[in-house]
Amino acid sequence: MNYYIGIDLGTSAVKLLLVDEAGKVVGEVTKEYPLSFPHPGWSEQEPADWWNAVLAGVPELVSGVDARNVRAIGLGGQMHGLVALDGQDNVLRPAILWNDGRTAREVDYLNETVGREKLSAYTANIAFAGFTAPKLLWMRENEPDKFAKIAKIMLPKDYLVYKMTGVHATDYSDASGMLLLDVQHKCWSGEMMDICGVTGSQLPTLHESWECVGTLKREVAAAFGLSDSVKVCAGAGDNAAAAVGTGTVGVGGCNISLGTSGTVFISSDKFGVDPHNALHSFAHADGGYHLMGCMLSAASCNKWWMDEVSGDTDYSAEQAKIAPEKLGRNHVYFLPYLMGERSPINDVNARGTFTGLTMDTTHADMTQAVLEGVAFAIRDSFEVAKALGVSIPRSNVCGGGAKSPLWRTILANVLGIPLDMVATEQGPGYGGAVLAMVADGRYPTVQAACDALVTVAGTTEPDPALTALYDQRYQQFKNIYPAMKALFPKLL
Ligand code: XUL
Repeated sequence: MNYYIGIDLGTSAVKLLLVDEAGKVVGEVTKEYPLSFPHPGWSEQEPADWWNAVLAGVPELVSGVDARNVRAIGLGGQMHGLVALDGQDNVLRPAILWNDGRTAREVDYLNETVGREKLSAYTANIAFAGFTAPKLLWMRENEPDKFAKIAKIMLPKDYLVYKMTGVHATDYSDASGMLLLDVQHKCWSGEMMDICGVTGSQLPTLHESWECVGTLKREVAAAFGLSDSVKVCAGAGDNAAAAVGTGTVGVGGCNISLGTSGTVFISSDKFGVDPHNALHSFAHADGGYHLMGCMLSAASCNKWWMDEVSGDTDYSAEQAKIAPEKLGRNHVYFLPYLMGERSPINDVNARGTFTGLTMDTTHADMTQAVLEGVAFAIRDSFEVAKALGVSIPRSNVCGGGAKSPLWRTILANVLGIPLDMVATEQGPGYGGAVLAMVADGRYPTVQAACDALVTVAGTTEPDPALTALYDQRYQQFKNIYPAMKALFPKLL
């Protein structure tokens, strides 16, 4: 029996999956690492923490199998993070992550001075605070000495691929989120390199996600307890990897991820751009393209509410206090903008709020408002896609938040569509393992691998009466951010 490793480099932890050649998950190891917020709105991590977590996790993962049969590794990683290396491949500063909001000025410069039309023509996207290009401009302005030393710019999972193979490579799906890639033509944009003051030699080589970029370096193979013939493929951004892991490939599939971030991911075999650029237009890990809306705080809102505010880690018990007849009737609303917001409002100054509290409001009402606020914000991106004429009759759902039956019920009714859960719910990690199988030649294409390996295990159906109630609530929710928008910058 052959084995494949899928690595999901997340924001709170790395999750390692061991998958056998029949697609069954036979091992799972999670290693956490810290996330630091050195200033309000900043978000950083040490690349060494990611690597140490992988070094500790892989031997544990493969300990129960004959490690000579492990054939290939595929990664899905948190997108957009800036990892800057010097000429000796040392990390120059902590990685600036996807949910970091420090680049408001740089985003304004790119969108207003360079101009949205030009950016969209060069890359198919406009600037958002978490994207990599504005972070390069920030480094050039604020850390010029370090900026001058940059020899290689990498994305988080690409740093792990580099540590494993010694190769500086990336894939099209993850590169799409740098605002340096001409997404339609799948090449680096000369204009964007000029704007950011970088050259092609500082950028990694570009690959399709399933392409093998190298094999394990001998010392890494020894540390992992694996053979140095193990292939490492280019991998994908975590959302594209999650889409592969849920079989959301080819034409017109949708995947919603309720992880630290919340995303609506619509796959397509054709390149397309949202004319207002509210949704991202990125390459997919199956060789095609996708449109994506990304909210910065999704399951993390509930984690914050439970761990930090309520001091209660029994999420199921808390959710059990929400009576079914309360669904669709909550008069408390929550704006989930705890890290500012990306899609569709693109506002780094937006903040979380509870609105509509009264003397009879209970803790359970507020918990419900948090779950509903995230679902309403997902619907905001969903509505943008629908307005573009995209038909979304149903969707897959994955991520930590999707494990809650209550949250799935709320989401299915807020969106008014059935939500499918696949049998292997480890989205990006499973997608990474699927890509590794394609890299190893077990399947000719990503689509063929998904057709053979991914099955739906259960569906949450919407209820028409509840969907109608939630529609009324959503119409109220939609008014809250526009009413508060002007206030947020004054609160900083
Ligand atoms: C997508 C995005 C997030 C991160 C989370 O654009 O920023 O989903 O990839 O890891």
